[in-house]
Amino acid sequence: MINNIEWSKLPFGYVKTHYNVRCYNRDGKWGEVEISSSEYINIHMAATALHYGQEAFEGLKVFRGKDGKLRVFRWDENAKRLINSAKGVMMAEPPMELFLEMLEKVVKLNEDFVPPYGTGASLYIRPLLIGTGPQVGVSPAKEYLLLIFVGPVGPYFKDGFKLVKMQIARDVDRAAPLGTGRFKVGGNYAASLSSVVRAHDEGYGSVLYLDAKEKRYIDEAGPANFFAIKNNVYITPDSTSILPSITNMSLQQLAKDLGLKVEARHVPVEELNTFEEAGACGTAAVITPIGEIVDRETGNRYTFGDEPGPVSKKLYETLQGIQYGEIPDMHGWVHIIE
Ligand code: PLP
Ligand code: COI
Repeated sequence: MINNIEWSKLPFGYVKTHYNVRCYNRDGKWGEVEISSSEYINIHMAATALHYGQEAFEGLKVFRGKDGKLRVFRWDENAKRLINSAKGVMMAEPPMELFLEMLEKVVKLNEDFVPPYGTGASLYIRPLLIGTGPQVGVSPAKEYLLLIFVGPVGPYFKDGFKLVKMQIARDVDRAAPLGTGRFKVGGNYAASLSSVVRAHDEGYGSVLYLDAKEKRYIDEAGPANFFAIKNNVYITPDSTSILPSITNMSLQQLAKDLGLKVEARHVPVEELNTFEEAGACGTAAVITPIGEIVDRETGNRYTFGDEPGPVSKKLYETLQGIQYGEIPDMHGWVHIIE
């Protein structure tokens, strides 16, 4: 184990590890998986990733259990989503087997960076797919790079399972209804930066975006999906411009297991007044309970109590329990890296 890291104090940030893994697709064929100790990529100045946004990424985590085993959570869903993002911006699609081979390789090569059990930290895996071939006209590249790097991380919202404040920003759209919001492509994050930085400066954890067309419904919760609890129902927005979150998909199943009803539907802003609990969910955010939402333009405030609600807490404990191997993995979500 690496011994100069304070595991339980890790933020969600970049940490240099030993190796990353890379594989090129040239003229439609994937080549050999390469191991690299460089943190840099040598890239053509006319690469489509740089000019025309041909890029997508993923985010998933490996957890070290009490039994010492390394568990990766629902890698197959991340692999499928990367294929979907690749389709969305016309990039070469990495086969599932290649994704798993590279993921297992990079985790094993950096095994001593997987945080110890009990520290609340995990190893974040960041697959990146970019168009590396040159084009000056707007068209897809003929060469792509799939790269996976890893790094130990702590909570995305710095206090972990504590209430955050979110800000509704009506003057910025993160993604258009029929645009790229449902793909995990860099442009969505570029579009969110100015409102996210402004929200931080104004004292909020992140931005709650409304649907771009009507500004009537809750859409995405910064780098996470939104969910709420009311009368034993788990409610989450159904929208064509949000990223289909694997955490949200898992929480919907766990909510059903706990006897809740699940509704994926339009969520009008006024309905915020009626929720008992609200939260943001995602790989980085896990479950981040929301204490207060303020509409920047109207000044309306919506509050959800002084501490995380019981359902959010139960869902958080169940999800993390499965990820750390403390609760039986009833749905076959966990893959052990031998
Ligand atoms: N929404 C956005 C915009 C994200 O960046 C993420 C993070 O991946 C999520 C939602 C949550 O998705 P997942 O639970 O698959 O990590
Ligand atoms: C994740 O949850 O994996 C994310 O990608 C969120 C963010 C850091 C972009």
